Amino acid sequence: MKVLVIMGSPRKGNTYQAVKRIEEFIQSKDDVEFEYLMLKDADLSQCNGCFVCFVKGEDHCPCKDDAPFIEQKMHAADGVILATPVYGMNVSALMKTFIDRFSYIFHRPRFFDKKALLLSTTGALGLKEVLNYLKLVAGVWGFEVAHSVGIVTPPMKISEKKEQENNKKLEKAALAFYNALQKERHPPGLRDVFIFHAQKASFGELGQSSPADYTYWKEKGWLSAKAKYYVEVPVNPVYNAIGWISEQTLKRKIRKGMGEVRR
Ligand SMILES: Cc1cc2nc3c(=O)[nH]c(=O)nc-3n(C[C@H](O)[C@H](O)[C@H](O)COP(=O)(O)O)c2cc1C
Repeated sequence: MKVLVIMGSPRKGNTYQAVKRIEEFIQSKDDVEFEYLMLKDADLSQCNGCFVCFVKGEDHCPCKDDAPFIEQKMHAADGVILATPVYGMNVSALMKTFIDRFSYIFHRPRFFDKKALLLSTTGALGLKEVLNYLKLVAGVWGFEVAHSVGIVTPPMKISEKKEQENNKKLEKAALAFYNALQKERHPPGLRDVFIFHAQKASFGELGQSSPADYTYWKEKGWLSAKAKYYVEVPVNPVYNAIGWISEQTLKRKIRKGMGEVRR
């Protein structure tokens, strides 16, 4: 089994040490390979906002950098740990550059056979905001989020009690992630099903005005009337009904909007 750590801290500091603790815990249970991708060492360009990846496809991106190679690394892993310190009440700039550079995956999700662990460290504030944001990103990209963990690691020395609390949280996260790696994917929640139907309405209706998305969705069979979710998993019928109604409403809105633009 293989885990890829995407490290959003520019140093081997608190966030790196927290992931190392998780690695030690998992390796005490099983032989799991860990690879660290230090974003500070990766050649990853700032997105220049040209929309080419969305419209024509990521292969047409003018940035010639490590992105395809990094995407391959994610595909080769069974699980991914997204780790970032809280900087300026948000993810680090390194992590945000990574997310922006792979924004086409929001439109064309792909990591459905993989589990994610989300980890953040902070001096005091911002954990909830950062972890909620990472949960949205990882979820829309297709990962099953196994667990989110945030710990407070201020610059001054912390009490032994606080350190024990942090270690307990990291062990709990490690166990949840390790267990998820052994299991089949969970059925999707309401938000996941809703996002599927909202995307289905959007990419189906936009059609050839967003050809890369349309072709991807069509080839996956996700635009078929029968498609309930990205992958074959049981979908709660109530969630499906809510998703279907939202899809029809959104389709009507998009058609109306496109009609107004044409007129
Ligand atoms: C540039 C910078 C911005 C930070 N912003 C915040 C912040 O908004 N809120 C907070 O509570 N801590 C903040 N911190 C503290 C870090 O979140 C905390 O020390 C973290 O554990 C650092 O992780 P690292 O050692 O992996 O870089 C900031 C630290 C730095 C260097």
